[in-house]
Amino acid sequence: MQRMGHLVNKRIVVGITGGIAAYKAAELVRRLKDAGAEVRVVMTPAATEFITPLTLQALSGRPVHVHLLDASEESAMGHIALARWADAVVVAPATADFMAKLAHGRADDLLSTLCLASRAPLLLAPAMNTVMWEHPATQANARLLRERGLRLLGPAEGEQACGETGPGRMVEPPLIAETVAGLFVSGVLQGKTVLVTAGPTREALDPVRYISNRSSGKMGYAVAEAAMEAGARVLLVSGPTALTPPPRVECVTVESAAEMHEAVLARLAAVDIFIGAAAVADYTSAAAPQKIKKNDARVALELTRTLDIVAVVAAHKPRPYTVAFAAETENLLANAQHKLEAKNLDLVAANWVGRPGLGFDGDDNALTVLWRGGQAEWPAASKRALARQLISLIAEQYHA
Ligand code: C5P
Repeated sequence: MQRMGHLVNKRIVVGITGGIAAYKAAELVRRLKDAGAEVRVVMTPAATEFITPLTLQALSGRPVHVHLLDASEESAMGHIALARWADAVVVAPATADFMAKLAHGRADDLLSTLCLASRAPLLLAPAMNTVMWEHPATQANARLLRERGLRLLGPAEGEQACGETGPGRMVEPPLIAETVAGLFVSGVLQGKTVLVTAGPTREALDPVRYISNRSSGKMGYAVAEAAMEAGARVLLVSGPTALTPPPRVECVTVESAAEMHEAVLARLAAVDIFIGAAAVADYTSAAAPQKIKKNDARVALELTRTLDIVAVVAAHKPRPYTVAFAAETENLLANAQHKLEAKNLDLVAANWVGRPGLGFDGDDNALTVLWRGGQAEWPAASKRALARQLISLIAEQYHA
């Protein structure tokens, strides 16, 4: 609830679409106003069937906007002016139809036009019948919207007005208000640029074969997301993975260690913190120009060392705060300690690999973290939870 203070003088557009939960938007408007925000309400025509504009006008203290091409509404504050005015836009409830419209960039009413014309953060609180929510079309739209950086809050589980039980209820207004407030909390890495490498690399042997490793990229992607949540601008240089980059992270994908090295160097100038979470190949091969034929009983591969990206970064001038991961199958602590010194790092996060459930493929991990002047053991937890913990430690050490 402490966060609510961040709403003072913030300009919030509350969008209401046509669902039964529309009546709850009244409480949302009241809470935002009580916390000191300026609120303007935009309703779709369907929403006015569920709650009257007059109620929302009384609560927001401003005329309610409904029509896109209404001369009187446009002269008071046109849709572009409204889009620019907003520090944040929250659509609650957001119907399946509205999400579909947003996903396709349609702009056939005031609210969808405003959403398309605004650079402000956009938060949706979906509310609809469970079957509609679970429909692949709605799920695909939700995924697409998240990928584009929209925040979706809910829907919550429970009994619905239509008699069904399951996900589909709008999240309660106090939580929506608090989430809107959270958009304005500046994080521990506010104003900083963080570059994260993630995933494996692929070293081509010939046009169809390569050497790679078991890295899934999950840890690196979680670290990138946690840094973004902490307010940083995040650049992610990723090897091939099956993952979708977190929203609001600038992601570039590469294949080989050499490409990753090049992509990192090209972006290093403005970087405050570098986190090497990629499992970069230590050796590469000169790729044969044609597919290698199985004519011989034995073939020998000649491998040459790749450049150690994290060591190159740590030796760079000016040098970002440099963090590496260490994936070990033996002597975890000693190897991590050696890496800290040998590569001139600020912090090393070491984990066991090749043990069931943890490390490369899984969703969980356990970390031993070493820095100059300290060390911590973090027991098994989800990679996302560990990533958040790591980012707060990095921020603390960086600022110290
Ligand atoms: O020495 P080792 O490969 O175990 O160190 C792992 C750390 O070094 C990781 O942070 C990894 O991203 C980084 N690394 C690198 N470039 C390499 C090899 C490893 O940046 N060529």
